[in-house]
Amino acid sequence: MLCVGLFGLVYSIGVGTNTQETHPKLSWKQCSSGGSCTTQQGSVVIDSNWRWTHSTKDLTNCYDGNLWDSTLCPDGTTCSKNCVLEGADYSGTYGITSSGDSLTLKFVTHGSYSTNVGSRLYLLKDDNNYQIFNLAGKEFTFTVDVSNLPCGLNGALYFVEMDQDGGKGKHKENEAGAKYGTGYCDAQCPTDLKFIDGIANSDGWKPQDNDENSGNGKYGSCCSEMDIWEANSLATAYTPHVCDTKGQKRCQGTACGENGGGDRFGSECDPDGCDFNSWRQGNKSFWGPGLIIDTKKSVQVVTQFIGSGSSVTEIRRKYVQNGKVIENSYSTISGTEKYNSISDDYCNAQKKAFGDTNSFENHGGFKRFSQHIQDMVLVLSLWDDHTVNMLWLDSVYPTNSNKPGADRGPCETSSGVPADVESKSASASVKYSDIRFGPIDSTYK
Ligand SMILES: *[C@@H]1O[C@H](CO)[C@@H](O)[C@H](O)[C@H]1NC(C)=O
Repeated sequence: MLCVGLFGLVYSIGVGTNTQETHPKLSWKQCSSGGSCTTQQGSVVIDSNWRWTHSTKDLTNCYDGNLWDSTLCPDGTTCSKNCVLEGADYSGTYGITSSGDSLTLKFVTHGSYSTNVGSRLYLLKDDNNYQIFNLAGKEFTFTVDVSNLPCGLNGALYFVEMDQDGGKGKHKENEAGAKYGTGYCDAQCPTDLKFIDGIANSDGWKPQDNDENSGNGKYGSCCSEMDIWEANSLATAYTPHVCDTKGQKRCQGTACGENGGGDRFGSECDPDGCDFNSWRQGNKSFWGPGLIIDTKKSVQVVTQFIGSGSSVTEIRRKYVQNGKVIENSYSTISGTEKYNSISDDYCNAQKKAFGDTNSFENHGGFKRFSQHIQDMVLVLSLWDDHTVNMLWLDSVYPTNSNKPGADRGPCETSSGVPADVESKSASASVKYSDIRFGPIDSTYK
């Protein structure tokens, strides 16, 4: 039954009725000091960017491949009025399955109508609200299996400062909200989002020449970000990124930084962040297949936000494998040897040692970051990189550099090309499980 037009004429972006939206269940644990934990019944929702968007009147695509339909979408506002977002077939279309406390994301899924690559999901508290986490003074723990993630892929688990309702309350044009995974933002101020603040990002849309599903519009969506986890079986990094404004904020053109065709450091966010990647910090025997942390097996990852309120000063990392707690490796890079965690002192020393722009401190460092981690939404994703082949995570980047800091992982500089990984590693996957949240030292053995 197609009775969607009625609302579509008045509001937008509305929702379709072709596929019912049923969020995969995912339980997690809230822990208290002393280590007792209670199970929370949550669920996940796929981001609106992955969804089918079609006419309010029939099933004509509003967006097909990497282009907007010029009749339905002559401009962003009209487009939003003319188009609806559809419910998702999580396993059939997107290769997403959950069971109890675990979630598996498949890389490439051949569905009946389309081939899907990667996904991005958010943890929901209820059908219309994302689960909000206040990370200050707390510890976040999860178990991950990266054994099926080769060079070029990134199984990423992170937090962003999105609106709890996906922006529905702030923007009357947004009828869909968190139930349909709207409102994404991050510190790269992405411009590849199809809808921002409830309006289609179709104005000035440029299809990406090496990505048949993606393009970039005139607007981007910025907010602070805490990358708890960006990894594959060969490399891993954790990275805070800070923005000047609290919460999600739309940017336009060069004010979106590199994604908007401007200077990399031209947005109000810190695109580089302050990363800790054990390989990049000089320890090449720490993370990988058969290494100190053996990526052929699952590993529990513990991240601690030391401090309280708006004065968090340090982010520590521990791993647990085979019943053993393994502290993060120490940096071996000259001038940074006393650090195995992220703090303002570490960031300053690391940026200096590597000669990198200190965008994290330039945008306020931990002082400002602390003010942004009280209302964070959890993101679980799997992606490949159409811009620089994930070389910034797992290889040498810039590829011709022999400067300290350029060596980030063991992957070849020719690896990670999307066309290659999407064909040769189509069956790759990542499994996240046993998410726990609570006071410091309450979530792991
Ligand atoms: C790498 O880290 C582990 C664990 O901290 C340590 O035992 C080992 O000596 C480190 N290796 C190097 C080369 O620093």
